[in-house]
Amino acid sequence: MDVSVCRLWTLLATLLTVMVTCSRAVHHQNDPDAMGLAPDIYNEGPLKADLFTVYSAALRGHRHHRLSLAKVKSSELKLPQDPPRPLLIAAPTTAGKYPVVLFQHGYTMRNTYYSQLLNHIASHGFIVVAPQMYLWAGSDATGEIAAAASVLDWFPAGLKGALSHRVPAVEPDLTRTAVMGHSRGGKEVFGLVTGVCNTSLKISAVVGLDPVDGTGVGHQTIPPILKNSPHSLNLKIPTLITGAGLGPVGRFLFPACAPKGVSHDNFFSDSAAPAVHFVASEYGHMDYMDDDCPGAQGWMSFCLCKNGPSREPMRRFSAGIVVAFLQASLMQDSSQLSTALFNPSSAPLKLETPEIYGSLAEITNGVRASV
Ligand SMILES: *[C@@H]1O[C@H](CO)[C@@H](O)[C@H](O)[C@H]1NC(C)=O
Repeated sequence: MDVSVCRLWTLLATLLTVMVTCSRAVHHQNDPDAMGLAPDIYNEGPLKADLFTVYSAALRGHRHHRLSLAKVKSSELKLPQDPPRPLLIAAPTTAGKYPVVLFQHGYTMRNTYYSQLLNHIASHGFIVVAPQMYLWAGSDATGEIAAAASVLDWFPAGLKGALSHRVPAVEPDLTRTAVMGHSRGGKEVFGLVTGVCNTSLKISAVVGLDPVDGTGVGHQTIPPILKNSPHSLNLKIPTLITGAGLGPVGRFLFPACAPKGVSHDNFFSDSAAPAVHFVASEYGHMDYMDDDCPGAQGWMSFCLCKNGPSREPMRRFSAGIVVAFLQASLMQDSSQLSTALFNPSSAPLKLETPEIYGSLAEITNGVRASV
């Protein structure tokens, strides 16, 4: 057979394999009954959460983010002060004052792909605010860090008003604010707490869900966060790092989504006490996201990275461990984090032995010592 025809067939066969594998991944569902016995943090919490978007006339240029909003209620609000980016907010509907978490999505992803994760966290009594960054961006993350800082700076002026349209009895407690990000979003929140861009709001805890600082050792993207020197990121606030065991595994011809040398292991070893680290061995870099992610980026999230058998266990675990960590670092209650650390078999999936620098007491002391 002619060589070029042969190549064509090989290419077609590869494409077909990719498509079949990906469509299978998209439609794989997990058995919900298997999750019924997990401790409370790994299930939705006691509060009903509302999920809604906030944008304004000034942000009409950002309509792209509405494409995937079929499942999210969307309301255009008239606010005295516009948020600097369109926001997806998950908040409890029960009256009360709740701590606030800024959430930065992963590279080229949509904030709405994280609706299940954010809802789960909010149902345990947190207000989670996820701005939409640029859909396509270059390798330099400085602009996104600045945008994240401007959203935090907007909180005191605008967050209460934005909430009042949907959950009027709910108030943000800005003395208890944490930042959290997935993948490149994890790098961005580390940019905030290391002073790449400063904010007027005090940040009391930081969470990196599979944070990624570049494409490999020696290829950190701008601004580099990791120093690859133990405990060199002396943040003086509690740190949670999670990792997916399959992150460093490449898929087809694509590079790994969370390459060794610039990912969660490195973020944890560069962190100073108090810091905790949880790694789910059998899950992938994108398994934090929704089962259903419409649009091209959503398809990519299933295809470009090596994934676990289904997303639900990883998502429930991650939301749960974030809740446990925030309860400790923002609410002085370390009971759930203690169980997660010292009894890892309580998690709904297989974990490597969890690690801690410093003590649980240092994690719960943070907010109290500073107010
Ligand atoms: C942010 O604040 C820190 C500590 O005060 C300082 O070292 C750093 O240069 C500041 N960053 C910027 C961009 O101003």
